[in-house]
Amino acid sequence: MQAIVISEPGGPDVLTWTEQPDPRPGPGEVLLDVAASAVNRADLLQRQGVYPPPPGASEVPGLECSGVVAALGEGVAEFRVGDEVCALLAGGGYGQRVAVPVGQVLPVPAGVDLVTAASLPEVACTVWSNVVLTAGLVAGEVLLVHGGAGGIGTHAIQVGKALGATVAVTAGSRERLDRCAVLGADVLVNYGEQDFVEQVRAATDGHGADVVLDNMGAKYLPGNVSVLARNGRLVVIGMQGGVKGELNLGKLLAKCGSVTATTLRNRPLEEKAAIVDEVATQLWPLVEAGTVQPVVHEVLPVERAADAHRAMEDGGVFGKLILRMP
Ligand SMILES: NC(=O)c1ccc[n+]([C@@H]2O[C@H](COP(=O)([O-])OP(=O)(O)OC[C@H]3O[C@@H](n4cnc5c(N)ncnc54)[C@H](OP(=O)(O)O)[C@@H]3O)[C@@H](O)[C@H]2O)c1
Repeated sequence: MQAIVISEPGGPDVLTWTEQPDPRPGPGEVLLDVAASAVNRADLLQRQGVYPPPPGASEVPGLECSGVVAALGEGVAEFRVGDEVCALLAGGGYGQRVAVPVGQVLPVPAGVDLVTAASLPEVACTVWSNVVLTAGLVAGEVLLVHGGAGGIGTHAIQVGKALGATVAVTAGSRERLDRCAVLGADVLVNYGEQDFVEQVRAATDGHGADVVLDNMGAKYLPGNVSVLARNGRLVVIGMQGGVKGELNLGKLLAKCGSVTATTLRNRPLEEKAAIVDEVATQLWPLVEAGTVQPVVHEVLPVERAADAHRAMEDGGVFGKLILRMP
């Protein structure tokens, strides 16, 4: 098969489209003919050499894909050859074929085309596992989504609204905030010009946020603890603002608040399978009803993965970048 590989750690130009050995499905795995993959921020870190794949995972980048089942490993009965699916991967999405544990394979939601479906597994599993399973967001609560215009953010806004929450977002420009409002965001904060703690408090009569989905890490830790409502839950999923911050336990304790940090890629297979199962049964009906829609900035041929990485690094991508296989 052909695949994108990282020839050496470095800038986007180290992504090279080249011949690679075909993967084979092991017991409990499914082999997919990949239709498309999508770019995640973690791919940029992997390319730079600072976020290696977990042991046993493919060296080919790509944490999600859509495609057609080409072969079944021993013991797989859930899918048939020819099924159109999408999948959460530990790696390998930027290649024409990938082997994936069956617990990470999802049907393509009805009404979503096969290529577009590649943009869903990572955002769906990340948002549902953190906002719903970990933080337990319920109707009537306030959800603050940092980076509302990104891949995760655009999905989280819609999930928050679907669950009946008031959704506040941060983004880097008025134009991007306006697009977040079209997706349902109620409270819009320009992070370059406004203080999110003040803005969210003012918009919620001093209540603050019941749940914060955070991509910034250290830089926003004090603000995130300040903005939490009583019994508030802060879930950190990204460290774009650094890894080491100061946590004011007095403030957290007074609010009976909690701070959790999670990652998806390194979780044991059983945990990933449980998340994927929840997504298929709870979230896919919302996608099939059109309540939660894929947000795709652009579809590029996979051979142009370097351009896709450059675009994500430069900023300005709204939602997801898809890489289509030839
Ligand atoms: N833990 C996990 O399992 C997991 C899974 C998936 C993703 N993630 C993480 O989640 C984060 C978002 O991923 P993604 O794929 O959605 O990436 P993305 O599409 O590149 O989005 C990144 C976002 O960061 C925002 N941002 C930059 N500076 C900011 C600031 N000072 N304050 C608030 N927002 C700021 C950008 O906003 P503007 O464009 O408006 O400037 C952009 O929307 C990344 O850190 C990623 O590593 C974690």
